[in-house]
Amino acid sequence: MEKKLLRVLAGEALSPPPVWLMRQAGRYLPEYRALRARKPSFLDFCLDPEAAAEATLQPIRRFGFDAAILFSDILLVLWALGRELTFAEGEGPRLPPLEPSDLDRLDLFHLAARLAPVAEAVSLIRAALPAETALIGFAGAPFTLACYAIEGGGSADHLRTRIWAYRDPAGFERLIGILTEAVIESLRLQVEAGVEAVMLFDSWAGQLAPRGFARYVITPARMIAQRLRARFPRLRLIGFPRLASAQIGTYARETGLDAVGLDTAANPALARESVGHTVLQGNLDPAALLAGGAALAAETESILAALAGHPHIFNLGHGVLPATPPEHVAALLALIRGGA
Ligand code: CP3
Repeated sequence: MEKKLLRVLAGEALSPPPVWLMRQAGRYLPEYRALRARKPSFLDFCLDPEAAAEATLQPIRRFGFDAAILFSDILLVLWALGRELTFAEGEGPRLPPLEPSDLDRLDLFHLAARLAPVAEAVSLIRAALPAETALIGFAGAPFTLACYAIEGGGSADHLRTRIWAYRDPAGFERLIGILTEAVIESLRLQVEAGVEAVMLFDSWAGQLAPRGFARYVITPARMIAQRLRARFPRLRLIGFPRLASAQIGTYARETGLDAVGLDTAANPALARESVGHTVLQGNLDPAALLAGGAALAAETESILAALAGHPHIFNLGHGVLPATPPEHVAALLALIRGGA
C-alpha cells in the first residue's frame, strides 16, 4: 500500500488527512535537547549523520507522524557555497553579509562534497523508518536564501536585499541563479539518498511586490521543479511561499508544484478556491498548538472542515514553538485521527 502522504501528493483526498509538523523535531522535545547538548554547535549537529538521523526519528517514534522531515537547516546550502555560518546560542544564524563582489566566490563546485553528511543522514533515516512513513527532504528557496546571505542573519524587513534587487537587478538575478543551481544540487543529493518528496521553504516570499514575486519566487520554483522532475519523474514537490497567501493561486498555477503550504494567516477555504487541483498543506496556528485545550480542538476542526474532500496534508502554518508541551502534539494527532 502506498504511503498516505504520497497518495495525497498524487491528488487523492484522504480522511483523516496525513499529518506531519514543520519543526516536529526540535527543542520542545526533551530527547532532542539531550541529543543537542552533546554537540558543540548546531552546525556540527546537522553535519553529524547519526545525530541528524536520530533527531529526525525522535518525533516519529514518539508520535507516529505520517512523514519524517530530514533534520537539517536551509542555511547549510549557504555554508556549502563557502559562506561562513554560525548559530549563536539564543540569537539565531550569523553570516558575513554578502556583497556583489562575493558572487564570483560562491562555490558550486564543492557543494555536493560538503553536503555529503546530509545525504548520509538521509540514507540512515530511510533505512530506519517504518514502512508507512514518508521521508521529506527540503531546501530554502533561492529568495529566502538570498535574504539570509545578504542580511547576514535574520531581519524584520530585508531591506538590504529588496533594495539590491531594485538597484542591481542583473546582479540580483545572477545571485538567484547561483542559488537556484545550489538548491537543485542539494535536493538531487537528498533524492538520490532516499527522500520521496521535497519542500521549498520561501519564508520571506511575502515581502516582495508582485513583479519581484514573479521573478524571484515563482520563476526559480518553476525551474527547480522542471529540472528535478526531468531527472526524478516520481518526485513530489511542496512549495511554501510564506505570507504570500494573496498570490497562492498564481503561485500554484505558475510553478506547477504538486502541493502548496499555507501559512498561519492563510484562509484555507479561500485558498482551496484559488488553487484548483493543487494539494494544500497546513495550517494550524503554532500558538493554538502551544495553547492546547478547546482552542486547539476548535482550530483543528475548522481547518479539517474547510479542506474536507480536497487533497490535504495537515500541518502547522509555521514551525512548532519551543515552549509547546509535547502532550499537545499527541492531543492534536488524536483529534485528527479520531479517538480523542
Ligand atoms: O522542520 C524540521 O523539523 C526539520 C528541520 C528544520 C530546521 N530548520 C531545524 C532547525 C527545517 C526544515 C528548518 C528550516 C528553516 N531554517 C527555515 C525555513 C522555515 C521557517 O522557519 O521559516 C529558516 C528560515 C531557517 C533558518 C534558521 N535556522 C533560523 C532563523 C534559526 C534560528 C531560530 C530558531 O528557531 O532557533 C535556525 C536554527 C534551527 N533550525 C533550529 C532547528 C531545530 C534550532 C537550533 C537549536 O536547536 O539550537
